[in-house]
Amino acid sequence: MMQTKKRKILVTSALPYANGPIHIGHLVEYIQTDIWVRFQKMRGHRCTYVCADDAHGTPIMLRAEREGITPEELIARVKKDHFRDFSGFSIEFDNYHTTHSEENRYFANYIYKRLRDGGHIVKKTIVQAYDPIKEMFLPDRFIKGDCPKCGAADQYGDSCEACGATYNPTDLKNAISAISGAKPIERESQHHFFRLGDFEGMLSYWIKGHRVQSEIGNKLNEWFAAGLKDWDISRDSPYFGFEIPDAPGKYFYVWLDAPIGYMASFKNLCDSDDTFNFDEYWKKGSATELYHFIGKDIAYFHTLFWPAMLTGAGFRTPDAVYCHGFLTVNGTKMSKSRGTFIQARSWLEHLNPEALRYYFAAKLGSGIDDIDLNLEDFTQRINADLVGKVVNIASRCASFIEKYFNGQLSSYLEAPDLHGRMVQRGVDIADLYEKREFSQAIRQIMKLADQANQYIDEKKPWVLAKSPAERQTLHDVCSMGINLFRVIMAYLKPVLPQLARASETFLKINAITWNNYHTPLLGHYIAPFQPMMTRIDAKQVEALLAASGSDLQISDAAAVPEAKAAAAPFQGEPLAAMVDIETFAKVDLRVAKIVAAEVVEGAEKLLRLTLDVGLDERQVFAGIKSAYTAESLVGRLTIVVANLAPRKMRFGLSEGMVLAAGGGGKEIFLLAPDAGATPGMRIH
Ligand code: MSP
Ligand code: ZN
Repeated sequence: MMQTKKRKILVTSALPYANGPIHIGHLVEYIQTDIWVRFQKMRGHRCTYVCADDAHGTPIMLRAEREGITPEELIARVKKDHFRDFSGFSIEFDNYHTTHSEENRYFANYIYKRLRDGGHIVKKTIVQAYDPIKEMFLPDRFIKGDCPKCGAADQYGDSCEACGATYNPTDLKNAISAISGAKPIERESQHHFFRLGDFEGMLSYWIKGHRVQSEIGNKLNEWFAAGLKDWDISRDSPYFGFEIPDAPGKYFYVWLDAPIGYMASFKNLCDSDDTFNFDEYWKKGSATELYHFIGKDIAYFHTLFWPAMLTGAGFRTPDAVYCHGFLTVNGTKMSKSRGTFIQARSWLEHLNPEALRYYFAAKLGSGIDDIDLNLEDFTQRINADLVGKVVNIASRCASFIEKYFNGQLSSYLEAPDLHGRMVQRGVDIADLYEKREFSQAIRQIMKLADQANQYIDEKKPWVLAKSPAERQTLHDVCSMGINLFRVIMAYLKPVLPQLARASETFLKINAITWNNYHTPLLGHYIAPFQPMMTRIDAKQVEALLAASGSDLQISDAAAVPEAKAAAAPFQGEPLAAMVDIETFAKVDLRVAKIVAAEVVEGAEKLLRLTLDVGLDERQVFAGIKSAYTAESLVGRLTIVVANLAPRKMRFGLSEGMVLAAGGGGKEIFLLAPDAGATPGMRIH
């Protein structure tokens, strides 16, 4: 094997806010980064992964106040929880720090002073909303009122969830402070601004060096075209953060010191491990590599402000910023009210963390597309790929090695070509990992697992075992299978570190690296086989959802709104996104006659309806059992969405949707057409 040059690579993930728990959306990022880092380490590079809690800002200050503790107490507790959750998912930081640290204060002050002395900080007086009762300026998110565009009530100060308009908090009608309920007044204050525009030349040059994905590059060009605006980096007291050195009573805005937290965490590592040198990684012209993994929502901060700040203060800039998309669950945005806001902790209580690592890897590419966790697909995929294919290779061969050969592998390799081909695939697979094309890597690896299983299918060790004359062949075939398993586990190790460790124990080998799996194990003793991964039962997934406050069923993805209506009393749900009349006209609403209705065994809320919609008869599941008995429905007319694409549900195909209104429970009212309507009549 050609030995590549040893690289020195510093990698970060975004710093999670210290005001809430880690959820599976966050984990997309930390898992993606961890896989990449583990891969680099397996290759023999010196790859260092640092992170920290993002501990400053108004929400954290207010939350601590609500809990009756100091912000310091809050962030210490949350940091412990975050770290515990990350560890549960085998996310292995080389250092995990906090932005509320002396290192971070030092670098924030240092960078600020360099920017100020370079003439990149200006002071301007601005008018802001102020809460006269709470006596503080109000961040946009803490002002609520009616949307100036569409009039929707209870909207935040920066944007309307009903019509999507963005505006200034001062434009809101009937605005109130979300903290005290007081009517905000306008008040002046002097703020510090960072002159981003000073760095336009530097930034456009930086971006040309393949620092960002093409989609982000396009976004950046839009931002350039719109003009780079001065950035407000100060906040007035009271604020939880660092006071600005030459401006008493003014604090650095949380986003100023947050990315500096990457440096601070690394500095903290240097102080405890003298094999690291801070300047080697951060000084201008550094030969080491620096990469930031982030979500696409925070690209502006990382691809404009951050490289500009670093340059202004005389540091190196990142080699690349890698953005990922957002996680959806069963096709929709994670939502507390839908119960799909699954916390890392709940996952760990119900399901194997490596299953999530594998599923994300199987879905992640190098782009910024959102990724969907479809829970039915997830269950099938883990059972089919990991249990059914990968671990199966070992379990099919191990028992024979144990039973007939005292745990010793053959000293002869039965199919060296096949083994050699699989080893050779490592070059391409490494290339895919390097490029963050994890889904493609997984596809390749699963092809190899198929080939290994095919080999075993053809050689039929269970038949060979029946005839004592075939002992040698049995030995060679099973040893070959074990050797193929080892190669496959090497490739999966960045994704499945725990399964890899269990395999190393089973194979009695040293930690697998990208440089030591090529020569087969011959005449080598292995340990008795222990089941390394168990099948996922749909019940575990249902328990997880129930624990997250959902009554969603695995294959019931499209039934979410129904399930929700039945679960919670109606509380004025925010308006969904607007649809125009053309879109609405596509909905084919028809009168339908309920010709049969029956209870669905095993479903809490569902009735199976047979509907005559004029054109045909069809089956529709409706979550209305709490309000109607099956018998009471037969013969009645209702209104149905007739052109809803059929959805496969746990209990069968649902070929439409009946319309109902009400708060749930007993209060579900099936919509009924006027008397005289006939099945099939379209409603306009
Ligand atoms: N504190 C800032 C980051 C500062 S970095 C100098 C922040 N924190 S966060 O907790 O809101 O998010 C942390 C990371 O998780 C971000 O990169 C964000 O994009 C990512 N995700 C949060 N929710 C997510 C999903 N639902 N899906 C995928 N990633 C998501 O932003
Ligand atoms: Zn609006």
